[in-house]
Amino acid sequence: MSIEIRPVDPHDESALRSWWEVGRSATAVRPGKPWPLWEQSRVSLPADNPERGIDLLVAADGDDVVGSGLLTRTLKDNPHTAMAFAYVEPGREREGIGRAVVGGLEAIALADGRTTIQSEAYLPPGGTAAAEHFAAALGYAVASRETIKELTLADYAARRESLVAEAGDAAGYRVVTFDTVCPDEHLVSFGRLLGMLMDEVPLGDLDLESSEWTPDRLRAAEQRQVATGRHVQTALAIAADGSVVGVSDVRVDDTDHEHAQVGITLVDPAHRGHRLGLLLKLATHDLVRSTYPSLLTVDTSNAEVNQHMNAVNEALGYRHLETLLELQKRL
Ligand SMILES: CC(C)(COP(=O)(O)OP(=O)(O)OC[C@H]1O[C@@H](n2cnc3c(N)ncnc32)[C@H](O)[C@@H]1OP(=O)(O)O)[C@@H](O)C(=O)NCCC(=O)NCCS
Repeated sequence: MSIEIRPVDPHDESALRSWWEVGRSATAVRPGKPWPLWEQSRVSLPADNPERGIDLLVAADGDDVVGSGLLTRTLKDNPHTAMAFAYVEPGREREGIGRAVVGGLEAIALADGRTTIQSEAYLPPGGTAAAEHFAAALGYAVASRETIKELTLADYAARRESLVAEAGDAAGYRVVTFDTVCPDEHLVSFGRLLGMLMDEVPLGDLDLESSEWTPDRLRAAEQRQVATGRHVQTALAIAADGSVVGVSDVRVDDTDHEHAQVGITLVDPAHRGHRLGLLLKLATHDLVRSTYPSLLTVDTSNAEVNQHMNAVNEALGYRHLETLLELQKRL
């Protein structure tokens, strides 16, 4: 067998489709919604994004595409890191294709000065998967363990009333919601809160740093979501002095009104202990439930050590779907 690693131009739709097909087949055994719909990938991968560089590779055996790889590089922060993902066509594992794909991705990362490569492996709860052994064989260490959780909207509906009573009204705070585009009066303060994210979210050993969210950067990020048909249904907690002290969101794509994902949730450490986490989640889940009556599930992931967030998610009705290993290797 001779495997050739070659780059894929995301604007070449038929090459992109072959790349996408391998990822879809390689992830098909996973529960939930492990791979984006073609309609999402076809729009999001070629889209210009000043925040993020993307490289796509395929492994070809003659005319057959048998492996694919994705490297993402943040462009505005963490210039020392990149994320690498490899997928091998079922039936073609253990032939060295995955290793060849990752080798190709690492070479691109190194040429761009990236020295810390991160990746992800998804395992069934309490079990293992090829990716765990593959990561170890390629020198990737487990930097953090996360739990992927899924909520069915029916479970949420059954619990909602008692949760609303439990959350109370967090005297002195109010909750503001919006679809993707933050109201002008909260923009600067929202950016300040987002700047704390990397310092406040449990990252284990992941080598990531916070960055500054200026109004221009936030507005540009919002417009990219609007342009790709993604609705970031957001709730902000506003303190008595008008500052933004908490955020949570649920993201829904125009191409799929049945499954949604939680993006970020963060409460300023100075304002914890007022049940704002639960209040914000109730606000976003109520919002997506009323906006998208066809919605069936929402998924989220949290570090296993993130006790408070896990307690809130369990109260909402989220159930453990998979374990996520956050992987890291220094080149
Ligand atoms: C993980 C994956 C990419 C591995 O691809 P692959 O082509 O089978 O991997 P390779 O043949 O290059 O394996 C390299 C080494 O990894 C280890 N390895 C890979 N799969 C393994 C398995 N199922 N059990 C034990 N070790 C394994 C072995 O040490 C192997 O070397 P060896 O075959 O000489 O013993 C493939 O199983 C896959 O596509 N899985 C689904 C998607 C995924 O989880 N991707 C990884 C996260 S981004």
